[in-house]
Amino acid sequence: MEMVNLTIDGIKTQVPKGTTVLAAARSLNINIPTLCFLKDINEVGACRMCVVEVKGARSLQASCVLPVAEGMEVKTNSKDVREARSVILKLILARHERECLTCSRNLNCELQKLCEEMGIDGLDFQGEKITYAVDTASPSVVRDQNKCILCGDCVRMCNEVQNVGAIDFAHRGSKMTISCAFERPIADSPCVGCGQCAAVCPTGAIVVKYDFHKIWKALDDKNTKV
Ligand code: FES
Repeated sequence: MEMVNLTIDGIKTQVPKGTTVLAAARSLNINIPTLCFLKDINEVGACRMCVVEVKGARSLQASCVLPVAEGMEVKTNSKDVREARSVILKLILARHERECLTCSRNLNCELQKLCEEMGIDGLDFQGEKITYAVDTASPSVVRDQNKCILCGDCVRMCNEVQNVGAIDFAHRGSKMTISCAFERPIADSPCVGCGQCAAVCPTGAIVVKYDFHKIWKALDDKNTKV
């Protein structure tokens, strides 16, 4: 196997050719934050949260899709890298619904975790905000496009792993969304309710429906034996 020598944060390492910088860094226990990256499923460099500085490169590079090269020198936590990640996060937050306390992913949200880790203490940008209706018609999942960060993890999981194809990207630019065919509710799509889209969603944009209130109602109903 052909091996490649590179330096990450001053540490010399050797990894097989074709390895990404992200994987090489992780093999050294160096943490690079990611949002859209889903190993072997979604490796498209969409969110740019994983940017790193590569000596000689004109701009910061997305480490999750950047193959290592001989002699490469990478910095994963320089001032430029930290500033870029902070701006990227604030841009995502600009159009994200931030009702965290009432979100079922509160304290279990990758976006929230990154904000905490990076010390995001204010919002510098006001994004064009489109308010989407929450899709609750399905018996198994709830889709809230207002919390979507367009990472594409759900789309690839649904299409390429589960081979269902219930959801995909729709529209362009700031109007881009994840949608079912003809923008119909997910209950009208070929969705089989497997919940794998919810399992990989880094935020609360797709969550498994929980019937907590229905259960209490049934328990409180004296005419129902439960
Ligand atoms: Fe690398 Fe999203 S994690 S671009």
